[in-house]
Amino acid sequence: MNLIISFSGRENGNCDNISKFIATEGDAIICFRDLKVHDCSGCRYECFEDVCKYREDDIYNLFESMVNYEKIFFIVPMYCGNPTSLYFKLNERSQDFFMHNEESYEAIVSKLYIIGVYGERNKTPDFLPCFEKWFEGTEFNHRVLGIERHKYGQTMGDKILEVEEIKKRIDSFIRQ
Ligand SMILES: Cc1cc2nc3c(=O)[nH]c(=O)nc-3n(C[C@H](O)[C@H](O)[C@H](O)COP(=O)(O)O)c2cc1C
Repeated sequence: MNLIISFSGRENGNCDNISKFIATEGDAIICFRDLKVHDCSGCRYECFEDVCKYREDDIYNLFESMVNYEKIFFIVPMYCGNPTSLYFKLNERSQDFFMHNEESYEAIVSKLYIIGVYGERNKTPDFLPCFEKWFEGTEFNHRVLGIERHKYGQTMGDKILEVEEIKKRIDSFIRQ
């Protein structure tokens, strides 16, 4: 059973559709925008010494659940040249979880695969390397796939899964 998380702000866009495309029976799809997750803000950095004051919202449980899945897929769109803020929200709030569950880092990262949806590598070369940070210092390679819309003549409103080659690339990425 796999976990797929869409980090798009909109319903039924490319990231949601990729999530559905990847999912097989029994897999869980989560739209991160639907979760109750507080920003890393308005606190005294309690997570470093003690417990995050927002521990009871949806993020800690989400990280706890991750170890139970076979593979975890993050589907992340580009907003204004960067991964969407929903992705950074998860990234920042992971501090509390990994501070208290250091041994789970490798277990979670070993299952993690990230698909970034964006316009063009030449214009924003630092988009995909941003995701590679999860895997630095680990043995896990080829865990980030970039889907460049412009390469396929697609603009923002287009549905990327209408391109057969993109479906094939996603297919071989998730099956590696
Ligand atoms: C606020 C905002 C900013 C965006 N900025 C960029 C951008 O800088 N570069 C880009 O290639 N696409 C950009 N996009 C387009 C999205 O990456 C694209 O629509 C993607 O398919 C979004 O995922 P979704 O279809 O799942 O919503 C932006 C979209 C939004 C809503």
